[in-house]
Amino acid sequence: MAGTEARADAVILVGGKGTRLRPLTVGTPKPMLPTAGAPFLTHLLARIRDAGLTHVVLGTSYRAEVFEEHFGDGSELGLEIDYVVESEPLGTGGAIRNIASALRHDTVMVFNGDVLGGTDLGAILDTHESAAADVTLHLVRVADPRAYGCVPTDADGRVLEFLEKTQDPPTDQINAGCYVFRREVIEAIPEGRAISVEREIFPALLERGAAVHGHVDHSYWRDMGTPADFVRGSSDLVRGIAPSPLLAGRHGEALVDESASVGGGALLYGGSVVGRGAEIGAGARLDQTVVFDGVRIGAGAVVERSIIAEGATIGPRAVIRDAVIGEGADIGARCEFIGGARVWPGVAIPDGGVRFSTDV
Ligand code: GTP
Repeated sequence: MAGTEARADAVILVGGKGTRLRPLTVGTPKPMLPTAGAPFLTHLLARIRDAGLTHVVLGTSYRAEVFEEHFGDGSELGLEIDYVVESEPLGTGGAIRNIASALRHDTVMVFNGDVLGGTDLGAILDTHESAAADVTLHLVRVADPRAYGCVPTDADGRVLEFLEKTQDPPTDQINAGCYVFRREVIEAIPEGRAISVEREIFPALLERGAAVHGHVDHSYWRDMGTPADFVRGSSDLVRGIAPSPLLAGRHGEALVDESASVGGGALLYGGSVVGRGAEIGAGARLDQTVVFDGVRIGAGAVVERSIIAEGATIGPRAVIRDAVIGEGADIGARCEFIGGARVWPGVAIPDGGVRFSTDV
């Protein structure tokens, strides 16, 4: 890289509805959910800035206004952020086409806005440049590729095909949701209609003989699309397993906002997070849990691998395990919510009102 001048635009796709994370995403877009002390997207923006990219375009649609209200022109993060809104969601490919007029560079690095990653962004750009590729995909090697589409490459790193999910994948390389494009490739995408980059644009480029390359590594990678992944990703950030410039030097078993209060004998571990003004009762136990701002957790409650949204109340000795409790919900004492339960915002459950075990 010559000098300190940015070598590419960064584009982040943040327009999805985040349905798998409902009800957390009813009012808040997925990339803005609080994660290890900041809206999730802030961790990615900080990594982009640290890689030397300064111009960021956010492709928004669902709850578009929330992003600009929070990040403004990006100067607080040392970035210049532009926003391009789709009135109707255009899919991942349509969204990339839609931001073309906001680009400043001939090389464009596109990110899915819900991936927590640890890869070296500069190294992906290096691969793209040395291969003189039309498109370079970040491919990450995972232990169990069966849940993902696989992308085999040849000895020179050229992508051979895009495979759908299968029980018997021929490679452990999966599409990590980060791509480098030559700008002309973006400009050639058909305009004004919904189109998927993964399912339509990439296979069509291969068919036409375009130079589509893979940059393969073993870096930290997690799609934050489901409650289980969200909980795990947040915990990995707090414990330093997933890297973020925002948390440098602050890793530990829990990240507790200084305005929160924690009662005597409460145990917070597993990379749990406690947000602003939250109150954790005496003897409560939080393991791998994300507690948003203004939540109250009663004495002796046990909360594991769960997300408690803003302003919710968990009564004394309640048990919440692998569950999502929506904004402002009120869970009575001794209730038990386990195994994927989702409580909608504002719902009130009386003391002992829902259990998964007998109450005697
Ligand atoms: P689910 O509804 O739970 O699948 O989540 P999602 O809507 O975020 O979809 P998905 O996880 O497949 O999207 C991957 C990334 O692309 C996310 O960062 C989305 O915000 C983004 N995205 C998906 N569809 C669109 C779209 O139509 N427009 C824009 N701008 N971004 C999109």
